[in-house]
Amino acid sequence: MAEEQLIFDKSKSGRRAFSLPDLDVPQADVAKLIPQEMLRDNLNLPELSEVDVVRHFTNLSRKNFGVDSGFYPLGSCTMKYNPKVNEEVAKLSGFTNIHPYQSEDEIQGILELLYDFEQYLCAIFGYEAFTFQPAAGAHGELTALLMIKAYQPRERHKIIIPDSSHGTNPASVSLVNYGTVVVKSDARGNVDLDSLRRAVGDDTAGIMLTNPNTLGLFDEHILDVADIVHKAGGLLYYDGANANALLGVCRPADLGFDIAHFNLHKTFSTPHGCGGPGSGPVGASKKLEPFLPVPRIVKDNSRYSLLVTRYPKSIGKVHSFYGNINVIIKAYAYVRSLGAAGLKEVAENAVLNANYVMNKLKEYYYLPYDRICQHEFVISAKWQKEKYGVRALDIAKRLLDYGFHPPTIYFPLIVEEALMIEPTETESRETLDSFCDAMIAIARECETNPELVKTAPHTTPVKRLDEAKAARELNLRWKTGA
Ligand SMILES: Cc1ncc(COP(=O)(O)O)c(C=O)c1O
Repeated sequence: MAEEQLIFDKSKSGRRAFSLPDLDVPQADVAKLIPQEMLRDNLNLPELSEVDVVRHFTNLSRKNFGVDSGFYPLGSCTMKYNPKVNEEVAKLSGFTNIHPYQSEDEIQGILELLYDFEQYLCAIFGYEAFTFQPAAGAHGELTALLMIKAYQPRERHKIIIPDSSHGTNPASVSLVNYGTVVVKSDARGNVDLDSLRRAVGDDTAGIMLTNPNTLGLFDEHILDVADIVHKAGGLLYYDGANANALLGVCRPADLGFDIAHFNLHKTFSTPHGCGGPGSGPVGASKKLEPFLPVPRIVKDNSRYSLLVTRYPKSIGKVHSFYGNINVIIKAYAYVRSLGAAGLKEVAENAVLNANYVMNKLKEYYYLPYDRICQHEFVISAKWQKEKYGVRALDIAKRLLDYGFHPPTIYFPLIVEEALMIEPTETESRETLDSFCDAMIAIARECETNPELVKTAPHTTPVKRLDEAKAARELNLRWKTGA
């Protein structure tokens, strides 16, 4: 495929993408409006005709891959299809034209939405109250750990984390100046209870757990885990970044988790990819609720207000105003449009789809934990590596040739050559079958033509990239020839 030129390379002096009639009103005196030192004579903008601009950007956009263009089984990211009606709701002018500096009287509508959505989340996950301020899952972790720190005495400064944990967990622990104690997973992918019993002590502030964990497995001893940590004086923190398998089925608060964050981007109708605006609300049980960030939204009679002073134990603010409102509106619309029964169906189909794909693939790829999975599962390219020298990375790259976004690879760290697959509930059986067919075809290619897989992708605009170069030599600037 021909290399795409930059728009600057296509520029031809004098071309214009607009044609306006001659001015028939007096020309504004720009010098009076804009300070002289800020005026420039030459902006060095590309000069193209309208059709060339349209084609340039349309062609670039076609090179993009997204949930709207294809299957995206990126484990731990829940790249499900997000119904467009939720975007439409978030775009309503009553939402887009308000400003947080307006008086409470003028923004009663959005305050009501936030208040109601907090009640919905409390009902879905079992908590006493929520904050919407955190702008991402990791930000929710930080917020929750700050609350744990405010609650626990100083001598409790260690957080227990299983070896299957998401990387943001130990990172958040460091941010609040706590120490991390790692516990092992057992042969079935649960937290190893003996390892946990040895890890807890007088210095335990709490444990951070993802359940289903990053292997896609529900911890079979979760009530024992809660018991051991609580008896030792620790708190249970639930990393609910991936809550698809829980909706309407299981509430983390009922399992003993004192505090939790959830990713509205992922579970509730905003895609996770590309670092777009997210929302990681934190839910707290009764004992931690006083520490939630302020302002909190309260309802007195039928009036909604934002209160700070009623919560003297609050950790304060963790985000400007009330969080990423747009993402919250979409999540609200998602919950309202599905209802309780629909949310439960989300969980059931997410789990069904993952188990379907897992069972179709386990004959061709090593499955380290062969038991019913939740919304995702982890297989391994261990067999392919040992027999043919083909690695998980090669298989991921080869999937691009088949038109699929690859799964997450090399995570969780406890699975060698890991491929973490999350099909999500929004995919049809036909899509799942064609993905499985591609994975099986690649497993066969590893036997018959390993070089083909090792040198993939072959059909994409750019071929195999240097995985580390972009991170090590970050140079995104386009320089003019001048
Ligand atoms: C288990 C888990 N925890 C935490 C996070 C962090 O969420 P975010 O990327 O929104 O910061 C993720 C992200 O996908 C996750 O999968």
